[in-house]
Amino acid sequence: MLKAEDNERITRVGKGTPCGELFRRYWQPALLSEELPGNDCPPVRVRLLGENLVAFRDSEGHVGLLEAFCAHRRAPMFFGRNEECGLRCTYHGWKFDRHGACTDLPTEPPGSPYQAQVKMIAYPTIEKGGIVWAYMGAPEHQPEPPDYEWTRAPETHRFVSKTWEDCNWLQAMEGGLDTAHSSYVHNDFIGNKNSLRNQDRAPQLEVEQTDYGYYYVSTRNLLDGTKYVRLYHYVMPNQQMRSGTVNFVAGLGKDDPHAVPKMDGHLWVPVDDEHCYVYNWTCAVEYPFPEGYLAGWESFMGRGKDDLIPDTYRLKRNASNDYMIDRELQRTKTYSGIKGINTQDYALQEGMGPIVDRSREFLGSTDRAIITMRRQLLEATRKVEQLETPRGVNPASYRKARPVDRILKAGEAWKDVFPALTTAVW
Ligand code: FES
Ligand SMILES: [Fe+2]
Repeated sequence: MLKAEDNERITRVGKGTPCGELFRRYWQPALLSEELPGNDCPPVRVRLLGENLVAFRDSEGHVGLLEAFCAHRRAPMFFGRNEECGLRCTYHGWKFDRHGACTDLPTEPPGSPYQAQVKMIAYPTIEKGGIVWAYMGAPEHQPEPPDYEWTRAPETHRFVSKTWEDCNWLQAMEGGLDTAHSSYVHNDFIGNKNSLRNQDRAPQLEVEQTDYGYYYVSTRNLLDGTKYVRLYHYVMPNQQMRSGTVNFVAGLGKDDPHAVPKMDGHLWVPVDDEHCYVYNWTCAVEYPFPEGYLAGWESFMGRGKDDLIPDTYRLKRNASNDYMIDRELQRTKTYSGIKGINTQDYALQEGMGPIVDRSREFLGSTDRAIITMRRQLLEATRKVEQLETPRGVNPASYRKARPVDRILKAGEAWKDVFPALTTAVW
């Protein structure tokens, strides 16, 4: 459990709040690169950390991220004209470049000195790994660009997507840092004693703190005396990395949807206090994704093209229709009765309410990773208040981090096997 004031401290993200100021020390995903497909294409509305913004790709291909409302009389810049390296407000024609400078003021006399004073809020952006990242903090604290291994992977090996989630970012992320729930809500193998998820439903967790956050190792004891061991990374403040190679190592062929050796992760990016975008990345680590693999994977996760409301990143299976739960399926085959791994997560996380009341919890031993994460967030908010640098800001802290999972023989220790496998290759 968490004291009510600590719960507030690590969930609310508006400017000036402890957690909001913490997030403003890191580059954060603002949108997918694909949302701005070409130079001078239509601008896109962005809401990030409780701020309303507008993104546009200028004539040179650079992405601008401006406040959503015009500096003149606050008309929406979304309806602006994206032309000649700037966004022109359609109300009276004032034009701004991606740095927020006013580059044309047609309603004032030519040469008016007023033009130099008119400014829009503009945040720096950088594109990497298929994502437009934004830095919304004080210029003097701006860190080096994000440099997670997956952002360096070749395009043939990488895929990113995003999905809308109707709840606070933290309870969504806690689902990602919680390995135990996969034996329950994601268990599509009811009655199958051989399923990894059924052989040991109480994984033992070890958490090791690092300069970027921590990694944690979960161990499940299998019936044949071997162990299923997964090493996850938590990279401050809102990213999880996990590995999915074990089925490949176990000998499943390239055609098996679960067999492609890869790593996956998410960033849970606060839209505001009560909504987030989940950025999903997946990376093939041995060979490029086979043809058609990704469509199948995204669908399996519940976020494929057919799972989304057209022209949005919102799921068709959502709270308004109880995630289309199939009670007969739940009775006979799958634990949740809901299709799609992430959809199963959203049903539970969104159903907690906009911001879960953590003062009412009874935590257990499988919550160790979540407890450590909350402590690190609290610690980080205090560091920011003291103008110190929190964990995970400096890319050197996480640049080499790679997740891993393996089946280990009895007597084999992850501490001997994993170090060689957890160093970034790209
Ligand atoms: S409100 Fe934008 S130019 Fe007037
Ligand atoms: Fe989950």
